[in-house]
Amino acid sequence: MPELTADSSTSVRIAVVGAGRIGAVHARTIRDHPRAALVLIADPDAAAAARLADTLGADSTDDADAALTSDAIDAVVVASPTPLHVPHTLTAVGAGSSVLMEKPVALEVAAVDACIEALGDRADQVMVGFNRRFDPSVAEVRARVRAGDIGTVEQVTIISRDPAPPPPGYLQVSGGIFKDMTIHDFDMARHLLGDVVSVHAFGQHLDQEVDDLYDAATLTLTSSTGAVAVIVNSRHSVAGYDQRIEVFGSAGTLEVGNQRSTSVRLHDAGGTEQAGPFLPFFLERYQRAYAAELDAFVEAVRTGTPQSPSIADGREALVLAEAAAESARTGTTITLNQEVAS
Ligand SMILES: NC(=O)c1ccc[n+]([C@@H]2O[C@H](COP(=O)([O-])OP(=O)(O)OC[C@H]3O[C@@H](n4cnc5c(N)ncnc54)[C@H](O)[C@@H]3O)[C@@H](O)[C@H]2O)c1
Repeated sequence: MPELTADSSTSVRIAVVGAGRIGAVHARTIRDHPRAALVLIADPDAAAAARLADTLGADSTDDADAALTSDAIDAVVVASPTPLHVPHTLTAVGAGSSVLMEKPVALEVAAVDACIEALGDRADQVMVGFNRRFDPSVAEVRARVRAGDIGTVEQVTIISRDPAPPPPGYLQVSGGIFKDMTIHDFDMARHLLGDVVSVHAFGQHLDQEVDDLYDAATLTLTSSTGAVAVIVNSRHSVAGYDQRIEVFGSAGTLEVGNQRSTSVRLHDAGGTEQAGPFLPFFLERYQRAYAAELDAFVEAVRTGTPQSPSIADGREALVLAEAAAESARTGTTITLNQEVAS
């Protein structure tokens, strides 16, 4: 990798490994970034890699290892299925690249620990894709909480519902709702509240078409400050991608509502305030977040500063996911002892 400095005009050369739903989002975002160059897209599905690469002016390969170890790149976006995140990240970092690794880091905390140990002091080169931290509304809420605008935070409510479940092939390797979906909300709870000290989770199986233990969940988290977070998830939502956050404090409330493609409302004899559906899904709702996430990643590569959210943040979210699975299974509250703050 060439010497990259803060004032260097050199673009960070990036390969995307995995040309599926999120790989396509990252590839387009890289193509549009002024200080990044989309070099290569790798996927064992050679046609999928070529289709995406052709539309974006990049090369493609069906050989992920060749992409991960290529000396024509400085960084890799690991957008492959979850069980491959750790091996792909270790190969890329071993070859000298920085990595933006999709969530979750792995399916088990033990695998994350082994990865952190193997990375050693190169763990700083790895960002975990908790894109919601980079959403402008979330960033404003966090800044205003920290500035004391709502006094002491007492309660946080996070609602996250997907429009429809992912395909069965995705679900089979996803690790279940807590590791795949709630993982974003665990990170959000930590981001807004700090360390979480207990988890109580209830799982539901609402849609018999979905071959997973749970396709909906409600969780209660307590933080070390005494504040309580409630997370509500579902794999289906007829009105679109339902993404809401409320932070309630002693001096006020901060709220992030759903977004729509326009702000037009219909008021007529049948009712008032009728608006269009929520934005369809993650690529539309978090488009600006993915761009800001990539920007932070690229700037950290260029300046040699540690990536954030870190793999330690990824570990802490997975600890909460494992606790949630245990809680839902046993009907008990799981108490934790978190030591990592972000
Ligand atoms: N941060 C987010 O908003 C977000 C959104 C969606 C998915 N994700 C995460 O991204 C990952 C991928 O999810 P997706 O929805 O894009 O899945 P997907 O099934 O749409 O795509 C996965 C792609 O990886 C490819 N693949 C399989 N084996 C591979 C290998 N050995 N090397 C390279 N590519 C390989 C598949 O052919 C497929 O094209 C998952 O871990 C998921 O949790 C994150």
